[in-house]
Amino acid sequence: MKHFIYLILSMLFFLSCADKKENPLEVADAESKDLTYDSSEAYQLLKNQCYACHSPVSSSHDVIIAPPMAAVKLRYGRSYTSKDEFVKAMVSWTMNPDKDKALMRGAVDKFQLMPKQSFAESDMRKIASYVYDNQLEEPTWFAAHEKEMHAKGGRMRQGMP
Ligand code: HEC
Repeated sequence: MKHFIYLILSMLFFLSCADKKENPLEVADAESKDLTYDSSEAYQLLKNQCYACHSPVSSSHDVIIAPPMAAVKLRYGRSYTSKDEFVKAMVSWTMNPDKDKALMRGAVDKFQLMPKQSFAESDMRKIASYVYDNQLEEPTWFAAHEKEMHAKGGRMRQGMP
């Protein structure tokens, strides 16, 4: 009987460890080593898969349906300074957008949570690496908007560490 209890206890222990592994950041960790990509392929992927919502060409802040990718890059760059971390976080997000893990809480309130889509993880790695490495096009209103938000200490700063 005593052994049986030990068995149960150790199973519980294993289960609780297994739980932690489900954290998408750790899953992505194992596979995020390869950060090489073809620049023009990655840019095409970004345009085809992300710019429909994260458009760099919009006439005003009022007509957009998601923050421009340049804004996402800026926000992620504040929290994740190394390329490895940045890519890991972005890949993990795109594979499984989760309200509780969102850095851009103001954007979640304004636009609602990014819908989960069936992206290929390898494509996401290329896109995230490209975003980290390259200067992205940004809408003409973006620089002024950033300045204004900072002056107000406004929504884009919410949730900052
Ligand atoms: C159907 C529209 C849509 C598409 C397509 C889309 N997104 Fe998003 N995304 C959103 C919206 C809306 C937000 C802002 C709300 C939020 O953070 O969930 C967002 C936010 C984000 C964020 C910030 C998450 C945070 O921490 O708050 C990242 C990173 C991101 N998107 C990456 C991508 C990438 C990379 C692609 C292309 C592979 C992509 N998105 C495609 C709608 C979209």
